[in-house]
Amino acid sequence: MVFPEYRPRRMRRTATMRALIRETRMTADQFIYPLFIIPGKNKREEVSSMPGVFRISVDLLEKEARECLELGVNSLLLFGIPETKDAMGTSAHIKDGIVQQAIRELKKKVPEMLVITDVCLCEYTSHGHCGCLINGEVDNDSTLEILAKIALSHVEAGADMVAPSDMMDGRVAEIRATLDEHNFEMVPIMAYSAKYVSSFYGPFRDAADSAPQSGNRKGYQMDPANIREAIREVSLDIDEGADIVMVKPAVAYLDVLAAVRQEFDLPVAAYHVSGEYSMIKAAAANGWIDGDAVMEETLLSIKRAGADMIITYFAKDMARILKNRR
Ligand code: PBG
Repeated sequence: MVFPEYRPRRMRRTATMRALIRETRMTADQFIYPLFIIPGKNKREEVSSMPGVFRISVDLLEKEARECLELGVNSLLLFGIPETKDAMGTSAHIKDGIVQQAIRELKKKVPEMLVITDVCLCEYTSHGHCGCLINGEVDNDSTLEILAKIALSHVEAGADMVAPSDMMDGRVAEIRATLDEHNFEMVPIMAYSAKYVSSFYGPFRDAADSAPQSGNRKGYQMDPANIREAIREVSLDIDEGADIVMVKPAVAYLDVLAAVRQEFDLPVAAYHVSGEYSMIKAAAANGWIDGDAVMEETLLSIKRAGADMIITYFAKDMARILKNRR
């Protein structure tokens, strides 16, 4: 059936009709809101390159978490900015580390909030790399043990899920084994499986103070040119025990997201990263685009490409719009 018998516009005539045939929907409970935790008391500092995103101290977490729950955002992803850094990233796995404190505070005051933690070394090492350096190179195997220690310390503090973002080979298996050994076999792992070397992480590195002091991350994060390799990375993480796999960044990698969705049956997460957020904010601030509309269209496209959940700095803004709409 073709025109004039068939007319696609028939089903677009009214809002009700359009809603009836809408293929993709977003709900706030599919958003994960990243938070940057800093030492100190009553601290709330806006990240200059990420308007609307704040680095907050542990004592302000309860208020922040309640605000999220009120909007229907039930999951947080925690990043820590520690007091001190060293070559081995020791402050990442100490019992009273910044993230460990944050987890305990959240699970005590707002236990219904799902607390996910980023497991990585770059915020904690003096050199800013995601693993330990041996002869100037990020050493894979000696990093694994430290990553497992970090994950365990988070889970011991009460984390509901851990999310390794370092891109070392074998880290999911190492973390799974360590958690199981300590009877945390029910704590899932969300693996940053296809994480690309991306300039879209720029604003995050301001926020988390985690830019590499020398070199770059090309020796461990993925080449933006590759998609078959992403499938292989995801497949390896699943074999090692990942419960959720992730593609990161999101918008510039929607093809990767769609391919991963097609290939695997595990839940897929997409990380709408800092640069993707800041670009929309900047253009909106200049009056060049309608920020809210572009935000919604962007997040919708990530869902349409196949993401089950989206990690996004827009979580609260989008949730607020969805809430007011009903
Ligand atoms: C840590 C990490 C990074 C991001 C999440 N976890 C930065 C990086 O790999 O350099 C980026 C998130 C964002 O840009 O929003 N390795």
